[in-house]
Amino acid sequence: MKYESQRVAWWFFATSLLLFTLQLVYGFIMAFAHAGYDGLHELVPFHVARTTHTNLLVMWLLSGFMGASYYIVPEEARRELFWPKLAYVQLIALVVVGVTAIVGFHLGWWEGRKFLEIPRPLDYLVVVDVLMFVVNIGATIWTGPRKTSTAMVLYFGLLATALLYIPGMLATDNQTVDSYWRWWVVHLWVEGVWELIMGAILAFLLIKLTGVDREVIEKWLYVIVGITFLSGILGTGHHYYFIGTPSYWKPIGAVFSALEPLAFLGMVIYAIAMLRKGGRRHPNSIAIYWTVGCAIFSFVGAGFLGFAHTLPSVNLYTHGTLVTAMHGHAAFWGAYAMIVLAMMSYSLPLLTGRKLYQKTTAQVAFWTSNIGMVAMVGAFATAGVAQVYLERKVGMDFLSVQKEIEVHFIGLALAATLFTIGVLVFIYDFIRYGKPVGELSRSTEDESAEAPAEANLA
Ligand code: HEM
Ligand code: HEM
Ligand SMILES: [Fe+2]
Repeated sequence: MKYESQRVAWWFFATSLLLFTLQLVYGFIMAFAHAGYDGLHELVPFHVARTTHTNLLVMWLLSGFMGASYYIVPEEARRELFWPKLAYVQLIALVVVGVTAIVGFHLGWWEGRKFLEIPRPLDYLVVVDVLMFVVNIGATIWTGPRKTSTAMVLYFGLLATALLYIPGMLATDNQTVDSYWRWWVVHLWVEGVWELIMGAILAFLLIKLTGVDREVIEKWLYVIVGITFLSGILGTGHHYYFIGTPSYWKPIGAVFSALEPLAFLGMVIYAIAMLRKGGRRHPNSIAIYWTVGCAIFSFVGAGFLGFAHTLPSVNLYTHGTLVTAMHGHAAFWGAYAMIVLAMMSYSLPLLTGRKLYQKTTAQVAFWTSNIGMVAMVGAFATAGVAQVYLERKVGMDFLSVQKEIEVHFIGLALAATLFTIGVLVFIYDFIRYGKPVGELSRSTEDESAEAPAEANLA
């Protein structure tokens, strides 16, 4: 670690893992409810569990992105954070808003709009909180001696994330108009501006881990940003097929969303090519696993499984079924969960001065969680395909079909157990790393020495 204020990242990462654990608890509640064991129904009905599960996901990912940014930006800009204290205030505010929202969901205080369930008064607080964060990061970049493309792409991804939350707050009592704007947040986040955040973190990690020149890595980062926007913006149309929006969205959505996997394919080629090109290997091999794993899993989960249901002729049958949940899990895990865990794996040894990446537990966490997630995606896929067939082809009633597919959720619970063991081992390592007490190493200002000086290259 080169800057004192980078330590704040650790607190965001710790918060992130805490919320992540809680998210999994609600996942299990739903898996059991789907399997026919809905014992907690009176206390936590399905819609409350689902809302809590998905909102905790978004919250822990945002906390992870913030932690990653507080780590990356001082190093890129070559200065301490502009307002280190504000970062702590902003974290506490985030947690307070988050906990209030979660408690509120359990008491029936929610908006009932998938992914945007947080009630309006809290929405304003979310925007203020994220703006505090964006201003702090922006001030650090703009007053720092160095402005890198990586930091810029990260910054604009974060700023756009904050601004794009606003269309989701436009008040209307028209269901179609409401859905139209809702997708500006949900789609343009995960298939637009979050990809910039992911691309920038990926670029940062590749610069550090492979030793390839910054110029080369950043040039390709721009290419990926270009493909993302070219396909992702009009790709929003794949949510406008059957919701009452004009029919021109069918061809537009089909063509542009079919191009979206290219950005994810680009990131796989990018990560693997840079790893091969860089003759040097960073000793923190587990950070390389998570980084390259993220590129590969995001291509499969977002690119391949996204494409699988993106054409109108397919989406007509799969829309809003467990096929969507299959893709949702694979994409969120591959792209955003894994990039946050990659950033933690890379930065923890530097923040704490310990080198647990040499331990077997780091490998166990990686493989167990990933194999568990592949199995979970398989369980959702089989349940989803059966659901589509019985409900949309055979024409059976929704609830009768849910009864038929209960068995797949026993499979889901087993797969999720494996996955959760992997995550818990990751958290066990996080705890073993301890608090950030690592020493500052200022000797690495020279870019060419960036990787070696950091961790005694083998
Ligand atoms: C990392 C990137 C991505 C993430 C995290 C993600 C996640 C999700 C989630 C959570 C949903 C459900 C949303 C809701 O119903 O409210 C969804 C829907 C959808 N996604 Fe993705 N996705 C990603 C990328 C993609 C890509 C690249 C494609 C196309 C190639 C795609 C195609 C779709 C389609 C067609 C739907 C609508 C499903 C339906 O009609 O029920 N996604 N995605
Ligand atoms: C213990 C592990 C987990 C279990 C058992 C689990 C289970 C579930 C279940 C049963 C649903 C509801 C599907 C429905 O609407 O019927 C769901 C929704 C969802 N979960 Fe999980 N989950 C787990 C972990 C995760 C993780 C790690 C992520 C992200 C990385 C995630 C992301 C999502 C998303 C995005 C949705 C909404 C999908 C959609 O819009 O269709 N879950 N989960
Ligand atoms: Fe989308």
